[in-house]
Amino acid sequence: MTARPTSSNDKLMMDLLLSLDLATDRDTRDLGARLAHMLQAGDCVALRGNLGAGKTTLARGLICAFLGVDTEVPSPTFTLVQRYQPDLDNQPSAPELLHFDLYRLEDPEDIWELGWEELDEVISLVEWPDKAGPHLSPGCLDIEIIIMGDQRRANLSASLASNWKSRLNDL
Ligand SMILES: Nc1ncnc2c1ncn2[C@@H]1O[C@H](COP(=O)(O)OP(=O)(O)OP(=O)(O)O)[C@@H](O)[C@H]1O
Ligand SMILES: [Mg+2]
Repeated sequence: MTARPTSSNDKLMMDLLLSLDLATDRDTRDLGARLAHMLQAGDCVALRGNLGAGKTTLARGLICAFLGVDTEVPSPTFTLVQRYQPDLDNQPSAPELLHFDLYRLEDPEDIWELGWEELDEVISLVEWPDKAGPHLSPGCLDIEIIIMGDQRRANLSASLASNWKSRLNDL
């Protein structure tokens, strides 16, 4: 039998890489903005946490930094996916970004109607990632936001087979 690292999350075989306290909603947005600068095509960020944990808040900070403007970022609660084009004048080789909220996805197979086959070419942010079932990539950066009173904690995990551990040194 192979021994598992003690910090691994049994459900996903993820290892906890970083735990950050987020005192205010500004801190949650800032974490998203810092992540935006290290993401590249093919990266998937899975955003977990209870209703109202702050997943969309983090996505908003990330998307505004990605676009380079402080713009309105709607929650894809009903559309299930929202698509963002980079400013190609300033970042000619930047990929598109897809922001998913899969809470209302009834069947994992329905995900193919949302552009899921493009995930290797785009940056993806996925709220309620478990709804993707077997289609969620094991290479995702997993961010779980935990409600702690009126504050939050973000636990960043990834498979040790991925390169997220070294990439997060730049966070
Ligand atoms: N670090 C924080 N401290 C306190 N409040 C926060 C923090 N981060 C986010 N919030 C607040 O949490 C609330 C819910 O945020 P948000 O809509 O982002 O949650 P969500 O996880 O996307 O919810 P849902 O599951 O419904 O999609 C917002 O009012 C936001 O301002
Ligand atoms: Mg949300």
